[in-house]
Amino acid sequence: MPNRITVTVVGGGIIGCAVAYELGRRGADVCVLERRDVGQGATQASAGILAPFIEADHAGPLRQLGSRSLELYSRFVSDVVADSGAVVPYERCGTLEAAMDASSLARLERAARALSETGLECRLLNAAEALIQEPHLGPSVIGALHVPSHGFVAASALTTALREAAMRHGVSFLAPCAVTRLTSTGSRMSAETNQGPRHSDVVVLAAGSWTEGLEFGQKPSLPVRPVRGQLLQLRWPTGSRLKQVVWSTGCYVVPWPDGTTLVGATVEDVGFDEGATVSGVMSLLDAAREVLPATEHAGFEAVRVGLRPGTADDLPVIGTRRSAPRLVYATGHYRNGVLLAPVTAQLVGDLVLEAAPGPLLEGVSPDRFASAPDARAGETAAAGWAGSDPARIRVARQEKKR
Ligand code: GLY
Repeated sequence: MPNRITVTVVGGGIIGCAVAYELGRRGADVCVLERRDVGQGATQASAGILAPFIEADHAGPLRQLGSRSLELYSRFVSDVVADSGAVVPYERCGTLEAAMDASSLARLERAARALSETGLECRLLNAAEALIQEPHLGPSVIGALHVPSHGFVAASALTTALREAAMRHGVSFLAPCAVTRLTSTGSRMSAETNQGPRHSDVVVLAAGSWTEGLEFGQKPSLPVRPVRGQLLQLRWPTGSRLKQVVWSTGCYVVPWPDGTTLVGATVEDVGFDEGATVSGVMSLLDAAREVLPATEHAGFEAVRVGLRPGTADDLPVIGTRRSAPRLVYATGHYRNGVLLAPVTAQLVGDLVLEAAPGPLLEGVSPDRFASAPDARAGETAAAGWAGSDPARIRVARQEKKR
């Protein structure tokens, strides 16, 4: 096909694979370069929760992107399944966000009011109603917010399926392949790799926590930094699967169709350390036991660790800089890479193939950091993430306010 646009995607996590699939099925000539194997970074440690009305606790770009992506999700999964032939566990079973003290309950009441005003179906439950909705809840739960449209997807299965589906549309994958440098030569981009250079019309930078250092001198460099998340995989007591995702101040718990239950996740500012820790595991188990006492009887299967790509304002970075129109960012998705994969793929597809930057890109442009005093803007925010907690651990969304 003449004039087929060539695209190099740097990074094979769920974002890189979703973007590659979208570009491939819309006719681009795409190659994905991944330093490990697809989905082996933050993606494999994700519980795959699709809950924009919890993660984005106020109206703004994250809420807009998250709710749009949730709308796209069912179609996205069914397209990927049809194109790959893979099985991808995906359920819209809802979330139950539990309150265990008066201030959390007051926050949920405010959230319920604000969400209802937008027309979202949700229900604030008292303790007795919450127990009917989820019989496993412990006695310390005094109320809960039920959002039936939320759900979860198996992030690793989806990412592997995205690779298969993308390959059916002609996308190639080079893995392991380490990109050492990106350069721009007028109308072409080059990626230098440990397997030689690769030239293309456009590069999509979807390298997550490993974004820094690949921006060929763009200033300020993007303040993307790793935020460790530890996630537990438990074997839930037989015959007593949770009815939905349960979320509390200290953890979230996701029921898998196969009887496995995921408990996540720590939020830790420890650099590029991908190791699990006793304190991380214990904090998650304590939090899960408090909201769901049956955790006590669960089997322990595994702990998974990933580095979320955090940004100074907790928003992803999608789009181009004015100074580098052939370098498209799709990174910094922090806690929301799985949720935002469909909308990110669509926005990048429209930008690269139609030169049509959608309005949703406005709040997440890489140029928003241009006025930062220097490239250390992200470090300032990260110091706040670690806070004064001597264990340098914050769990789930403890300090979120509504
Ligand atoms: N999406 C939840 C987390 O990153 O822990």
